Amino acid sequence: MSSNELIEQLNKAMSLELSGVIQYSQHSYLVSGTDREVYKEFFRDQAEEAQKHAEFLGDKIVALGGVPTVEPAMIRQSVDLSEMLKQDLELEREAMAAYMSAWEACGETDLPTKFWLEGQIADEQIHIEELEKLTSDRVAVISTDKIVLKEVS
Ligand SMILES: [Fe+2]
Repeated sequence: MSSNELIEQLNKAMSLELSGVIQYSQHSYLVSGTDREVYKEFFRDQAEEAQKHAEFLGDKIVALGGVPTVEPAMIRQSVDLSEMLKQDLELEREAMAAYMSAWEACGETDLPTKFWLEGQIADEQIHIEELEKLTSDRVAVISTDKIVLKEVS
């Protein structure tokens, strides 16, 4: 694939990271009740992380001869914590898809960018797994000899 395709996919990830900065920040402003004690900081940390990822992407896109986008992707808002976390999970999954497409666009010609993306993809996967746990309805069922996680329907 061409480096144009790679730049395009990196820009897609860029727009999603820019959304992440705004969406996580907005969630940190809006979260209320006792959840605020924990989740204000959680959302602020995620916004900072998205900002760092956007900076890496912006520098990389310029290094490859492109221009980083200044247009964020869709931003989801809510005042309900569970809904916020589901919205963030959707955003992280979209970002993962963009990083994976960028990884594919590297082919065998740009291995350094490919390896850098693998680090990013590993980081994004941890966010996804944590958000999956935070939005999960699973409960632990303890029987005599083992603990089993079950989905609540
Ligand atoms: Fe990210």
